Amino acid sequence: MKALVLAGGKGTRLRPLTYTTAKQLIPVANKPIIFFVLEQIKAAGIDEVGVIISPETGQAVREAVGDGSRWGIRIAYILQPEPLGLAHAVKVARPFLAGDPFLMFLGDNLIQGGVRPALEAFSRPGGPEALIMLKKVPDPRQFGVAVLDSEGRVVRLVEKPEEPPSDLALVGIYFFRPAIHQAIERIKPSWRQELEITDAIQQLLGMGLRVEARLVDGWWLDTGKKDDILEANRAVLDEYTRPEIKGEVCPATKIVGRVMIGAGAKVKNSTVRGPVVIGEDACIEDCFIGPFTAIGPCSRLKNVSVEHSVILENCFLANVYRIEDSLIGKNTRVNRLNDPRQALRLFLGDDSEVVITL
Ligand code: G1P
Repeated sequence: MKALVLAGGKGTRLRPLTYTTAKQLIPVANKPIIFFVLEQIKAAGIDEVGVIISPETGQAVREAVGDGSRWGIRIAYILQPEPLGLAHAVKVARPFLAGDPFLMFLGDNLIQGGVRPALEAFSRPGGPEALIMLKKVPDPRQFGVAVLDSEGRVVRLVEKPEEPPSDLALVGIYFFRPAIHQAIERIKPSWRQELEITDAIQQLLGMGLRVEARLVDGWWLDTGKKDDILEANRAVLDEYTRPEIKGEVCPATKIVGRVMIGAGAKVKNSTVRGPVVIGEDACIEDCFIGPFTAIGPCSRLKNVSVEHSVILENCFLANVYRIEDSLIGKNTRVNRLNDPRQALRLFLGDDSEVVITL
């Protein structure tokens, strides 16, 4: 059994962050999303992983992820020269997959509890040709959608339907046997000019092969947009944060709940209410850090109140009361000056967004 992790794509909905990084490398709880994906793959017992990369961000992904030894897995990088769809990625990876069954995992998706139970269901003797994972969602139009019959068998799949035939979205985690390659040979590009894996799975059904589905009971995170990253940060902090203080905390600081403070970080005269993670060498002074906040390594916050936010590394934030629901990229500076004109002076990258609620 192999795994194929998709880490290409342009991440247009996460600009401006994705001008300088791959969307799969954006950290939640101070760790790139793709690292959680690789941990879930390893935890399912798979050691051989192909990572699909794009010409634009491939080098950054390689540098961050490495050869896989830190997770005890072997990683091969496979270049997809153009973003022509998920089924196209499988086509490009065919020499690597070499006729083995495989788990395909989109590098910006995560599910609670990992993929081991699904892998066991797929691998059992007499298991199906493909196994897909589904989650009930309020608006399925932006996803692949599956229709099940009264016995729970998959009967139809459609990609991003305007009128969804069910509320069951396809999660970006799939298990396949080699017949998927023949199915992919039979499909044509969709309206968005992509070879859709959803269409290939529909082909498997057309070929009379069995496709099974499993419903995801816990959370499913698809971190394609800002609010999705905040939600992922919330879910991951909630699930994985344990109290661990490696940095320095002064006696006037109040730490409440589950808070992780990295080595070399300093927290002075502040209140930190978990779940919160503060990265290595960060410096927090006279602040309130509220629940579901991740502060990246080397960031400095002085006289700031913040909650439910992701602040990446090496930022400087000062004298701002109440930052919430925010995603702040690396090396960003936010400062409030004592100036009677009360003007905003902005220096924002392309595709930035500022919401003022005062
Ligand atoms: C892709 C799949 C879609 C699936 C989704 C899950 O969509 O095409 O069927 O529901 O991933 O994240 P895309 O991210 O390409 O819009």
